[in-house]
Amino acid sequence: MMKSLTINTENKSSPEFTIRKATFDDAICISVLGMQIFLDTYAPEGMRLSLAEEVLHNFSPPLIAEIMAKPDTTFIVAEANEHILGFAQMSAHAKHELVPFADATELNRLYIHEKFTRRGLGRQLLHQAEKTAVENGTTALWLTAWVGNARALAFYSSQSYEEAGSTLYTFQDEHYENRLFVKRCGLRAG
Ligand SMILES: CC(C)(COP(=O)(O)OP(=O)(O)OC[C@H]1O[C@@H](n2cnc3c(N)ncnc32)[C@H](O)[C@@H]1OP(=O)(O)O)[C@@H](O)C(=O)NCCC(=O)NCCS
Repeated sequence: MMKSLTINTENKSSPEFTIRKATFDDAICISVLGMQIFLDTYAPEGMRLSLAEEVLHNFSPPLIAEIMAKPDTTFIVAEANEHILGFAQMSAHAKHELVPFADATELNRLYIHEKFTRRGLGRQLLHQAEKTAVENGTTALWLTAWVGNARALAFYSSQSYEEAGSTLYTFQDEHYENRLFVKRCGLRAG
């Protein structure tokens, strides 16, 4: 059972954040926050049809609720003043040919509202995701990040994640190179 965790950010004017496991009641907020953060991150030049279709599909509330219902999926959220500010989405027992661990957890998404970035929130959600990976009986957490997302690459490197190769993310006719990062979790973590 995940415990709530209160975070005091180093910025004294920041509110206190609570991290907790998401429930189905959070699905709509996660959907819309996911769209907002996705667009802040991947649509800096404005909107085009392929992006619009991608975001509406991938973050539709029914799809998020369907993913939440999967037994190996966990969502955790960070909230303050009854507003969700960020979330992590994980899938336990997720294999990838570049991941050198027999049983690992994938961090599918780690999204922090732009206004609350660089306050340690991502780091705290990532630590909770690592704990969840261990609680699920897996020994590593892995993820892919777009090579153009310099902030994400710097973030995962700063949290002792190691690059294990490149993957290709394709939607419609567009191809994007991603870096795969992995970290051993739990007692044997280095
Ligand atoms: C990437 C992301 C999850 C990082 O979360 P965050 O809460 O902003 O990061 P933190 O404040 O916990 O930063 C932890 C460390 O990461 C590194 N880091 C974070 N942002 C950085 C930046 N813009 N440039 C360089 N290093 C950075 C720093 O080492 C930082 O430690 P410090 O602040 O003590 O120097 C967040 O920016 C985000 O959600 N971005 C939009 C969505 C996204 O790109 N998600 C990842 C997709 S793979």
